[in-house]
Amino acid sequence: MIQSILNEKSLLADRILEVAEVAGYLWQKGWAERNGGNITINLTEVVTDKVRSLSPLSEPIPIGRELSNLKDCYFYCKGTNKRMRDLARRPMDHGAVIRVLDDCSSYVIVADNPVQPTSEIVPHLSIHNYLLGKGSSYRAVLHTHPIDLVAMTHNPAFLEKDRLTYLLWSMIPETRAFCPRGLGIAPYALPGSVELADKILSELDEYDVVIWEKHGVCAVAENILEAFDMVDTLSKSAQIYLTAKSMGFEPEGISMEKMDEMREAFHLPK
Ligand code: 13P
Ligand code: ZN
Repeated sequence: MIQSILNEKSLLADRILEVAEVAGYLWQKGWAERNGGNITINLTEVVTDKVRSLSPLSEPIPIGRELSNLKDCYFYCKGTNKRMRDLARRPMDHGAVIRVLDDCSSYVIVADNPVQPTSEIVPHLSIHNYLLGKGSSYRAVLHTHPIDLVAMTHNPAFLEKDRLTYLLWSMIPETRAFCPRGLGIAPYALPGSVELADKILSELDEYDVVIWEKHGVCAVAENILEAFDMVDTLSKSAQIYLTAKSMGFEPEGISMEKMDEMREAFHLPK
């Protein structure tokens, strides 16, 4: 049998197989053209002794910034230029497990193959570093390219703070219930850059989902299925809005009064 860390049943294998499941959904949704999108998962709490004992498959690779909370942390990362539709079938051929070294500013690839991590590794690891720093239980970071939500970012009016949050919440009650912290906005920045990372971080105090202007969205959650569900729910709301517009009318939306009633009934944050 081919040597793979997925051969033995473990929580680590379960987490990676969840990534593969979500990668399939992203492809089916039409959000993952070619290599579009990326996923990273913090596996440190579920890393097995076997994985800890593996020798590095790469030289140390610099991250490009020091991330002091990530010392000796393990992550599964989608590979750069790898396709979600391929990752869905063979996650360890289209992604890899990395370990952040003691200097907190470089990492090595440890399993299964030396697959180079996503070009968005700086934003992803910066987000994990931020989450650990604030004691969050979130371990999953998803970046994807949903057609409807990205289209909306081409209208500057929708980039005003909380404009999209209230619009999308008002399309269907589920959106407020399942994305109770709304949608933050990261103005356009070069993909993979430290600048993009910092624009996302400045939104995460307030939001679990951040839309990247003219590019995609990023969601953080305890696990990758929760992250996917939030983006899926927001995308459904965007589709309801766009469908109403294409039928020739402005959708009325659930009133603020009715939304406040729901917020109180379900004990949602303000
Ligand atoms: P990677 O193939 O390097 O993960 O890049 C995909 C992407 O969506 C960049 O924003
Ligand atoms: Zn992207």
